[in-house]
Amino acid sequence: MCGIIGYVGGRDVPSVLLGGLWRLEYRGYDSSGIAVISNGELIVRKVPGKLSELEELIKRKPVHGTIGVGHTRWATHGLPQENNTHPLLDCNEEMALVVNGIIENYVALKDELEGKGHIFRSLTDSEVIVHLIEEYLKKGLAEAVKLTVRRLNGNFAFAVISAGERNRLVCARHDAPLICCYNSKEAAVASDISGVVSIFDEVIHIPNDSIVVLGRGKCTITNFQGKEIKVPAQKVSIEVGDIDKGHFPHFMAKEIFEQPKVLHNIVSERIIDSRIHPGDELGLSNDELKKVSRIVIQACGTSWHAGLVGKYLIEKFARIHTEVDISSEFRYRDAVLDSDTLVMAISQSGETADTIAGLREAKVKFLKVLSLVNVVQSSIHRESDGIIEILAGPEIGVASTKAYTAEIVNLYFFALYIGLLRGFVNKAELTKHFTALKKVPVQVEQILQLDAQIKEIAEIFCDSRDFLFLGRGLNYATALEGALKLKEISYINATGYAAGEMKHGPIALIDSKMPIVCINPRSSVYEKMLNNIQEVITRKGIPICIVTRGDRRTRTVSKHSILIPECLEYVSPILSVVPLQLLAYHIATLKGLDVDRPRNLAKSVTVE
Ligand code: G6P
Repeated sequence: MCGIIGYVGGRDVPSVLLGGLWRLEYRGYDSSGIAVISNGELIVRKVPGKLSELEELIKRKPVHGTIGVGHTRWATHGLPQENNTHPLLDCNEEMALVVNGIIENYVALKDELEGKGHIFRSLTDSEVIVHLIEEYLKKGLAEAVKLTVRRLNGNFAFAVISAGERNRLVCARHDAPLICCYNSKEAAVASDISGVVSIFDEVIHIPNDSIVVLGRGKCTITNFQGKEIKVPAQKVSIEVGDIDKGHFPHFMAKEIFEQPKVLHNIVSERIIDSRIHPGDELGLSNDELKKVSRIVIQACGTSWHAGLVGKYLIEKFARIHTEVDISSEFRYRDAVLDSDTLVMAISQSGETADTIAGLREAKVKFLKVLSLVNVVQSSIHRESDGIIEILAGPEIGVASTKAYTAEIVNLYFFALYIGLLRGFVNKAELTKHFTALKKVPVQVEQILQLDAQIKEIAEIFCDSRDFLFLGRGLNYATALEGALKLKEISYINATGYAAGEMKHGPIALIDSKMPIVCINPRSSVYEKMLNNIQEVITRKGIPICIVTRGDRRTRTVSKHSILIPECLEYVSPILSVVPLQLLAYHIATLKGLDVDRPRNLAKSVTVE
């Protein structure tokens, strides 16, 4: 949600801010703006709409200065129109504020501040912050921020500049991400490293509940009580090239096609000397893992779907009862969690608000949390007892693709690891799984070569109004994920369903116009799924089948079949989702939609 950036230093400030905003745009993109202090005066440029429009505006009306803040917004309170676009200003237009988060007590604060004569220009919840700071400003900007954060409920990360204090940025965070960087010549703050990666090679992950005063050659971090905290800087682990589209038209395409490389890296990291190496940060000893009698996986969106596959794998290989919950449900349902329950969070970004809350819920109950997380040093990484790094590399496309397959492969290794510890997996089985997993990168590469065929299918069905996705067993999750991919970027109504459950409702939707994606690789539920495909055909639905090469039976009943390589059943969710990613991608691009900026969505959901 919302990307924020601030910079002080000798470079061209609007260019630095815009560069950062382009790389943070995946966080939200319905409006954007910058504010720069120029000769003691605050100059603001903001526009509802795309970031390219802000860039145009700045070209038409240039600004110059040595300090500034910028924002790209995902609206919560207040429509994406100019008055609600950040930076938000105080009454005197001397301070500019950029915020990510939600201030839950804003109504009461706004009443109080209006009572004192403050004039609000936006319908945002966050505008109260800048007016509160203004109220306390007599004590100086840093002190005013300290007094302000104590009044706020909700979650937030913000940066503020003041025409009265031209050399420093003051920032604060509570349950929303924020990093900063500095050297003797310049300093910056951003929602994540991608905002500053082109300038700095060291980064400070700002601790939760702290305030930072940042300038050239200085960075003072204090907690909300005012106690100074020392936080070491860390090497920036990504390069500009990692967050570049390369020769691809979209991040989503780049990330789909990156999957063979990503999966190859994971397999090489996890299999060392014929043993499973789950990473150095598991945070639980083998003895502790052996004692686990129940696992609760909690996650959101695509990561939740990966969790569903994880459940099948963990139960199969480790024989541990595993539940998978949507984080926004888990956090509020007062789940029964015994002391030998292991809670697992899965998150690409490591910043999803509900998943963090679920993790904290488990910790309040003194349970260990082991998380799969892609972004190192993210909140989930830092707050978990142990982590398994997903190793997908930066994922920018709002529709998650490579992180999903990477999450599944890591869950596969984890399930085998714990299965071995508990004596449910023997050496011969392990060898069989290793052989299957080592083939996965090449098999995904082969599926990607079907791109043209999948595009042809997309051309046939891109005007369909509704889609149904059906799968069973391990590929029930594939059906959900295929439907999610399609709906989020093409805006076609797509429903994923367990095929066996179809006759309890969705079958009523089927008519001669409806494409039904049936995921039926060779598996223990193959025959059952074939029956479901027949039921679809009998209702005149149009099946598009994902099947294993050499499978004639499904192909004879279905005109549209996409063939995936022969594989172990457990590997099939990794392979069968790839054609669905491509199908969604092509349908959306054929409809002329911007797949990297689907409407209403954001990559990193830092509000609940
Ligand atoms: C958002 C993204 C999804 C993602 C979900 C969970 O909705 O658009 O792609 O799956 O958040 O994100 P996480 O970073 O926790 O995996």
